[in-house]
Amino acid sequence: MSGRLDGKVSIITGAGSGIGAATARRFHAEGAKVVLADISGAQEALAKELGDGALAVHADVSKGESVQAMVQSAVETFGGLHVLYNNAGIDGEIAAVADMSEEGWDQVQAINLRGVFLGIKYAVPAMIASGGGSIINTASMAATVAFPQMASYCAAKGGVVMLTKTAAAEYAAQKIRVNSISPGTIQTAITEHLPQDMITAIIARNPVGRIADAGEVASLALFLASDESAFITGSDYLIDGGYTLL
Ligand SMILES: NC(=O)c1ccc[n+]([C@@H]2O[C@H](COP(=O)([O-])OP(=O)(O)OC[C@H]3O[C@@H](n4cnc5c(N)ncnc54)[C@H](O)[C@@H]3O)[C@@H](O)[C@H]2O)c1
Repeated sequence: MSGRLDGKVSIITGAGSGIGAATARRFHAEGAKVVLADISGAQEALAKELGDGALAVHADVSKGESVQAMVQSAVETFGGLHVLYNNAGIDGEIAAVADMSEEGWDQVQAINLRGVFLGIKYAVPAMIASGGGSIINTASMAATVAFPQMASYCAAKGGVVMLTKTAAAEYAAQKIRVNSISPGTIQTAITEHLPQDMITAIIARNPVGRIADAGEVASLALFLASDESAFITGSDYLIDGGYTLL
């Protein structure tokens, strides 16, 4: 099947790497106009590779002005906004709560939770003007089960799930759906930063017995972005190989 996002203008944050890059490729292949937003610069090469219908934007999702400019670029370049994937995120400082620095705590909150708030805040008016849309937020299985030494990450991702539900309730009447995806362990730059013993323990506990490819999350994002999920809003989708079952 192709053309599942024909005519839809989509912004993907964190599009320079991992899940965001895989999703940008998938959305573009399905006919979407894609705005690839990232702070790293890596989005430039991917947008160039995708060619027509792809635009690279430098954005820091923790800064309101930057997020506003990102939305404005999408509207000015492609004439509207129908899909926003608030995917940018970091793992942050690895430390138990009493040892975590205040700066380390704040940095994760700023990108992983405030960044999602800002994305929704500035995308909603553009989506209403475009007749509605779909917002997808990246939470994590860390919103469901605890990961010691990652308290700020777990707290931010738990916050994303409830931010998602609240925004879904607020904007359903304006035809904006808001859902979240909670990945388990996915092979990306983020997992490369984690201590190897943490990854080994995660795989050992996972019923499916492996970690996943970023494209598997992109497939779920595609479904939630498309009109195939028109009756779904305020939901959180675990994609974790069964990790949180046990
Ligand atoms: N990989 C996993 O196992 C896993 C599991 C659960 C949730 N997640 C979540 O998935 C999302 C994507 O992560 P990934 O695994 O693809 O990691 P990744 O590191 O490959 O990609 C994250 C991207 O976000 C960008 N980014 C970071 N800070 C930013 C900022 N302030 N503004 C704009 N862009 C910024 C980075 O430059 C990077 O390109 C994150 O929200 C992460 O928390 C990942």
